[in-house]
Order: sequence, then C-alpha cells, then structure tokens
Amino acid sequence: MTIEERPVAAALGASILASIAFAVAFALHAGDGWLGATAAIACAGICIALGYWGLRLAPQTQVTEPRESFASEAGDDVVPPVSRGGLLWLLGAACAALGIAAIFPLRSLGPRGDAMGLRSRWRAGMRLVDPDGRPLDASSLNVDAVVTAFPEGFIGDEASQVVLVRVPERLIAYSKVCTHAGCPVAIYRAKERELVCPCHQSVFDVLDGGRVLAGPAPRALPQLPINTASDGGIVAAGDFDARVGPDDWDAT
Ligand code: FES
Repeated sequence: MTIEERPVAAALGASILASIAFAVAFALHAGDGWLGATAAIACAGICIALGYWGLRLAPQTQVTEPRESFASEAGDDVVPPVSRGGLLWLLGAACAALGIAAIFPLRSLGPRGDAMGLRSRWRAGMRLVDPDGRPLDASSLNVDAVVTAFPEGFIGDEASQVVLVRVPERLIAYSKVCTHAGCPVAIYRAKERELVCPCHQSVFDVLDGGRVLAGPAPRALPQLPINTASDGGIVAAGDFDARVGPDDWDAT
C-alpha cells in the first residue's frame, strides 16, 4: 500500500469499525447518541474515502487512445488503469458492513417482540433495585409506599420494570407496562388499592392480581413473584406470570 492510499484505507477502516459499533450499540440499547455517532462515522468514512480517492488517487490526466493502435503500444502516454485491489476490497467491506448494520434498525419497523428487547430479564433470585441501582429493602417500605424497580444489572430495561406496592399484608410487584398500549402504569390510588394508567385511564386492582377494573386494557397486569431475602432485600421468585405489554408486541 502506497503512502497516498493510507488515508483511504484509514477512512474505510474507521467506517467498518463504526458500523460494527453501531450494531453493538443497537443490540445493547445504548441510546440515540451512540447510534447517531456511529452511523455518522460509518457513512462519513466511506464518503471521505471516495472523495480522497477521486481527488488524489484516480488518474487526473486525460488519455486518448488512437484508434489504430492498442493502449499497450502507446508507450509512456498510457496511464495504468486503477489496480488498487486492496482498497477495492476494503471499500466493499465497508459498504457491506454499513449495509449489515442498517438491517438492525430496519427490524424495528416490524412488530415488536422479544427479539427487540421486550423480553423480561427477571429470573429467580434476582434482586429488585430502584432506578438508581440501590437494592430495595422490604423493611424500608411503609404501607402504601410505591416504587419503581428493576432487576439488578438491568436498570432502565423496559420490559422488566415493575411497580412495587406495599399493602398491609405484603409486598406486590406488577409490570409497569400497561397491557393496553404500553404506557407506564404510574398512578397509585392508595385508598382504593388501584393502579391507574394515565394514558387512557385503565384501572388495575392491586389486591386481585392486577385485574382490569376499568378502561381499555384487555388483560391484567403481569405479576412478578417476589420473596424477601434473609438480609431483608427483595428478590424475584421467577419471571412474570404473563407476557409483558400489549398483545401485538408479541406478534412476531
Ligand atoms: S396505554 Fe394504558 S390505558 Fe392505554
């Protein structure tokens, strides 16, 4: 590889790495900032490489081939054809990587399902933590206390978020994702022991398995079985008792 070719190779290499980073960021739900930055670098790398290639590497001399003779016979006037096989391979790899990375977000256009990150992470023994990652303690929750909780290690995971409610007899945890259209079930009516979804006013009975009392929600909130650990922490006894979210999220 000549010294003039190195900037092109570097730009294409950066594009390939950025495409890989985009796919990883998408799979890990790293956020729009990461997705935008990696996609921009992937595209910019190819554009810069092509631009540099066109300006600095491609022959700038106009060549005229006499009708009567072959180019190989034209001596010093002939500019060798572009034979930068290594760069062509690299360019192909960069375009392929960008194309493969683009498949990931295209999948988001289809029905939402487990493969898109709506699979609950709860497993038996997982601790419930608050949105700041602090383990929840059963003794610190007074009657009618309501907190949002996640599995330890999965803060912010949409499908795993629960609303934890202390009623006089026990602690109860339900999925915070409304079964109607997926809004967070964010309101608790302590007196009635009801959870309310603010989007379309579905009402769920906390003391009766999250049963729908009113509103358009088609089914009860999934309940998370929980136990109190020996150290006072709260742990899951398994996964939700039903699938999370609206039914059409599972239409894979
Ligand atoms: S999303 Fe909850 S009632 Fe519609």
